[in-house]
Order: sequence, then C-alpha cells, then structure tokens
Amino acid sequence: MTGRLDNKAAIITGAGSGIGRATAQRFAREGARLMLADRNADALAETVASLELDPQQVRARPTDVSVEADVDALVNAALEAFGRVDILCNNAGISSSREPAMEQDAEEWQRVLNVNLLGVVYGMKYAGRVMAEQRSGAIVNTASVAGIRAGAGGNPYSASKAAVINATMTAACDLGEYGVRVNAVCPGLTETGMTKPVFDYARNIGKEQKLGSRCELRRYGRPEELAAAILFLASDDASYITGQALAVDGGNTASLNMPGMKV
Ligand SMILES: NC(=O)c1ccc[n+]([C@@H]2O[C@H](COP(=O)([O-])OP(=O)(O)OC[C@H]3O[C@@H](n4cnc5c(N)ncnc54)[C@H](O)[C@@H]3O)[C@@H](O)[C@H]2O)c1
Repeated sequence: MTGRLDNKAAIITGAGSGIGRATAQRFAREGARLMLADRNADALAETVASLELDPQQVRARPTDVSVEADVDALVNAALEAFGRVDILCNNAGISSSREPAMEQDAEEWQRVLNVNLLGVVYGMKYAGRVMAEQRSGAIVNTASVAGIRAGAGGNPYSASKAAVINATMTAACDLGEYGVRVNAVCPGLTETGMTKPVFDYARNIGKEQKLGSRCELRRYGRPEELAAAILFLASDDASYITGQALAVDGGNTASLNMPGMKV
C-alpha cells in the first residue's frame, strides 16, 4: 500500500485530543513515522492505542510546548528515533478567558501566549534548524479563524492566533531558501476537547443545530476535515505552497454573513 506520507518522519503536538489526534490517525494511515507530543500523557497513550500503525513507527513523548527545553528535546527525540524530521505540526493550543478590552489580565495573556504563540515559535526554531540542514521539510501551524476576525474567542486567544499567522509568514520567508515550507490552517468551529463545553451547552438546551449555522456550509467542522487540510499542506502535493494561512471553516470567514441579509 502506498500512502501520501510514506516513510516521512512527522512530529505532531497536541496529539492527545481533537484535531491533533485526528491528524495522527490520518498521518498513520498515510504511512508516516510519528513522534507524538502532548502535555497530557494519558491522552497521548490513548491516541497511540488508536493508531493503525506498526509500534516501531510511533513514539509518544509527554511535552509542554510552552517550555523551550521540552520542544528542543522533542525535536532531538524525533531525530534520534527516525534520523530526520520531515514534518512538524505545531497544533497544541489552549483557549482563553473572554474579558472585554477594558478588563484585560496580563497573567492570562502571558499564559495563553506562552502556549499558543511561543510553543509554535519554539517548534519552528528547533525543527526549522533540522529541516534547513536537510534542505527539506514542511511545517503546518494550527492557527484559527479567531486570528482572522474578532468574535470567535477571547482577546488573548484571538491575538495569539493572529500572531501565529504572521509568524508562519515570517518563518516561510526565513526557511524558503532551504526548501522548507511553512503554512497554517485556520479551523472554524470544530468539535474537539477544546470546544466540548460549547457543544455540551448547546445540546443541553436543544440548540445543537445552531452551532455552525452562520457558516456558509451551515454546519460545524469535524477534526478529520482539519486533518485532511493539514495532510495536504504537509505533503508533497503542496510543494509550491508556503507562507499561507488556509481557512478550513465552512466559508465562515469568506462572508460577512449579516443577519437578515440573506433571502
Ligand atoms: N476546536 C476548534 O473549534 C478550533 C478552532 C480553531 C482553532 N483550533 C486550534 O486547534 C488546535 C487543536 O485544538 P483542538 O480543538 O483539537 O483542542 P483539544 O483540546 O481537543 O486538543 C488540544 C491538545 O493540546 C494539548 N495541549 C494544550 N496545551 C499544551 C501544551 N502546553 N503542551 C502540549 N500540549 C498541550 C491538550 O492536552 C490537548 O490534547 C489548537 O491550537 C486550537 O487553538 C481549534
């Protein structure tokens, strides 16, 4: 069987749940060798158990992406296990509180930026060095529609994701001459661990059909749909694409979708 990632060595952060887990499952089916990372070791073990993959092909490493030394060690562990790093998915992320602009809390900003922004920066730094030396590689960062428009998350979360989009472009410029591509996906509302409270609440009040109803496709996203977009950007099918942020959002950010304007 030939897969789109045969023999590629991939690191995926946030692989214990949601989009990261779905990406690990898809990458495994496409023939990749995997170094999976998450700060939640039990969740990571569940992901590993769910994979259709020879155990030799997968490693799991508890990692806190907000700790620079952890990310450095993660990239080194992948190099030791597989001899190279072809793909990095900087996917781990956390949500933030939603205080209005007049009530911002610096500690909350720092907590969110440490994971959502610096975690990505560290990943691009250490994997980027390896990939530059190899003269090949692909990095896919998970940003968010919240980084494109306001209103889809708290202020620290949205700003962290806007910064990820910009850091993606900058890294693409820095790494392009080495044959290394850097792109981002911007998920819209997707059912995962992060959004569970939103889904639980909507279901409890019988309003599940409202979720995603403002998207042009009139529904919310599934982690597998994000995994498919991440696979595309990580694979050689995207060999001439770099520095881009691909919204995977059912058309949500394509439209102003003003209430009452549709016939
Ligand atoms: N679900 C959505 O609607 C949505 C929308 C836009 C963007 N995103 C982004 O998608 C990415 C994946 O999130 P998800 O929705 O699958 O959520 P999730 O909560 O299901 O998965 C996130 C995973 O990241 C891990 N993680 C959190 N902090 C970490 C850290 N410091 N170090 C290592 N691992 C850490 C968690 O343990 C968890 O397993 C995130 O970057 C998130 O911001 C999600």
